[in-house]
Amino acid sequence: MLPYTKHEITNEDIEAVTEVMRRGALTKGSKIEEFEAALCAYTGCKHAVVMSSGTAALHAAAFALETKRAIVPAMSFVATANCARYVGAEVNIVDVEDKHLHLDKWLVNDFFRLEQTPPTGNTTVITCDFAGVQCPMNDFAYLKNKHGFRLLVDGCHSFGIKPSPHADITCYSFHPAKLITTGEGGVAVTNDALLAGAMRRFRDHGIDTPQALRDASNQINYDVRMLGFNYRMTDMQAALGISQLKRADQYLAARKVVRKWYDESMRNTDLFTLLDATDSANHLCVVRFENRYVRDFVYKYMRDLKYGVTLHYPVISQFTAYKGPVTPVAQHASDHTLSLPLYPAMTHADVVKVLANVRQAITNYTHHSHKSQIVQGVASSGGFEKQYLSPAYVQGKSLAPTPHLGGRPLDPLNHYHTLDDRYFDTLDKSKK
Ligand SMILES: Cc1ncc(COP(=O)(O)O)c(C=O)c1O
Repeated sequence: MLPYTKHEITNEDIEAVTEVMRRGALTKGSKIEEFEAALCAYTGCKHAVVMSSGTAALHAAAFALETKRAIVPAMSFVATANCARYVGAEVNIVDVEDKHLHLDKWLVNDFFRLEQTPPTGNTTVITCDFAGVQCPMNDFAYLKNKHGFRLLVDGCHSFGIKPSPHADITCYSFHPAKLITTGEGGVAVTNDALLAGAMRRFRDHGIDTPQALRDASNQINYDVRMLGFNYRMTDMQAALGISQLKRADQYLAARKVVRKWYDESMRNTDLFTLLDATDSANHLCVVRFENRYVRDFVYKYMRDLKYGVTLHYPVISQFTAYKGPVTPVAQHASDHTLSLPLYPAMTHADVVKVLANVRQAITNYTHHSHKSQIVQGVASSGGFEKQYLSPAYVQGKSLAPTPHLGGRPLDPLNHYHTLDDRYFDTLDKSKK
């Protein structure tokens, strides 16, 4: 059994947690501030507000940014969108681009360019650093200046990559699937003292004065200035976080090595492709298959063998709770990808084994039963493939991984030909 991810707990971690249990305050003690200071040092941000989960951090951030309307990517964990719903904002689900599955900057630009009536209140654009690769923050900073929105980064996949100063707030999760863990937990980091203050109050029932200050000044009374929540992290969790944070860079390096093994072992494979992961925290190892039937077959085959392959993610706009627009690029990714196991303790032999079994699954599928169905299935799966993929792909001749038109994904609303091409083209060139 290889899970898709696996955390590590060391004796030092256990010692740090039990030390709090023996001697410290279990909650509202000094470990929270200590963890927050360590997170500021690690991320380079002025303020860190730790919370009971990444979702709580996103909720607090959406609140602090006074979000009345949000733009969220179709491809992310649902919490990215939920946080805007929690604060009563209108949620607009926008498609992703197909290289990194990041929120599509061109569509974001069009969203503002084509809007009829300017909104009342703040619009927050929420990006997700999908699989661990940071979104193109210079481009989003340009759009932010141009259209005047707030920028919230869901960095739950990218802890370890320095957060961008262009983001108003960046949120991380410390769920056991993430780079470091506190069991459950999260943090919102920002350089803005007012935003940090709002998130602290939000975390603590709307109470203005922190417990430590109240204790220090023997203050008997306090004010509640707004509706808040109890989103606090315990001191035991914070102690675990402090201990884990010391190994964050070590985990990053180990994940990078595992990803390199995948890259090398896949060099001669054209049966499936790896999502690009240059400059990544390597949170996920996402592979894309030629068609969805092969993907489904591989998923079942691997799960039967107890490999923890999984899907990141079903498309948010297709959830019953959202029922948003069709987002073809996210839909294509959701239908054709799987995440393979990737975590620091994996060995080269593990990677070879995983890939050998994926190849075996594809061979089984092709040879034993469904060959005609592959061609027929893709060709007859109707609207989507016919509309968005190249003819060669539809005929089952090509393993072209993604739909393209002049380097950009096709879009049914034909949004793509009206944007500030020159600006982005200049940026793209200057990066080369
Ligand atoms: C992209 C993304 N956003 C938000 C979250 C929510 O974080 P948490 O599980 O800590 O609430 C996660 C974690 O699963 C995530 O992967």
